[in-house]
Amino acid sequence: MMKLKHIISARQLDKKTLQKIFSVTDKIKSQKFNKNALSGKIMATLFYQPSTRTRLSFESAMLRLGGSVITTEDAAEFSSAIKGETLTDTIRVVNFYSDVIVIRHPESGIADLATKYSNIPIINAGDGVGEHPTQGILDLYTIFSKFHSPDFTVAICGDHANYRPHHSLSYLLSLYPKIKIIYVSPKLLSMPRELKQHLINKKIKFSETEDFQSAVARADVVYQGRIPKEYLGKDYKKYLDRYVLDKKVLKNIKKNAIIMHPLPRLNEIAPEVDSDPRAIYFEQAQNGLFIRMSLLLLLLGP
Ligand code: CP
Repeated sequence: MMKLKHIISARQLDKKTLQKIFSVTDKIKSQKFNKNALSGKIMATLFYQPSTRTRLSFESAMLRLGGSVITTEDAAEFSSAIKGETLTDTIRVVNFYSDVIVIRHPESGIADLATKYSNIPIINAGDGVGEHPTQGILDLYTIFSKFHSPDFTVAICGDHANYRPHHSLSYLLSLYPKIKIIYVSPKLLSMPRELKQHLINKKIKFSETEDFQSAVARADVVYQGRIPKEYLGKDYKKYLDRYVLDKKVLKNIKKNAIIMHPLPRLNEIAPEVDSDPRAIYFEQAQNGLFIRMSLLLLLLGP
């Protein structure tokens, strides 16, 4: 297993490291962990973009492990960024006050930049249209909790150009050569070329289509993503109702498939789908807590 210092990109992870993260997560899930493991440690959460799940699950994770949290829930507005302080100065200073920094920022690459100015671990909680690695890890954990052999088809639907969870999940899936990926999106919102080249280099079988119905009918994992208003501007309305998973679509999805979404959702999954046993997006969000506890333990634990 590789030594984890920072968590910036799903690309930095290998299978052995993921297995270790998942085995610690399994123990946490079954309540086999030291509730004071991180006593005396402080986590700083710097969120320059809104969040419910990522920030609160990281904070809950730290508190459940006996650590403490300092936070700026709207760092763009309520930190000294508003006075013009650079992010790199902020990182240098917050290093004195905490043992780990979790950062979400609208600019792609900023978490990586932060590592150059930090002696303590930096965790990327989403950087612009780049990546959201801890989301990818919890997504993969959720998939493997349902499919034990990595030999299945995943349909990833939505905006692949701008939606970072799709990028991190794709990098992680690329570690498993038998997995097949169907990318469903309007042509203008297709996967970045660099990511497709990565899949080609890794010999991963993937296809691209605009045909939502046919793709979800063939998939074992239906992964719906949000249409990100914050990056598409008023264009987002054009795409909002393009791929809606409702009861009608549900009829064509495999009996043993799973339906996932990183949440928050807009119109991508109708609430009428929530009671279907294949819909596991709330379980997925809960796994976010366990995965983030595992990551904090691996980064800061004894
Ligand atoms: N999935 C996710 O990142 O959700 P939040 O934006 O609420 O953190």
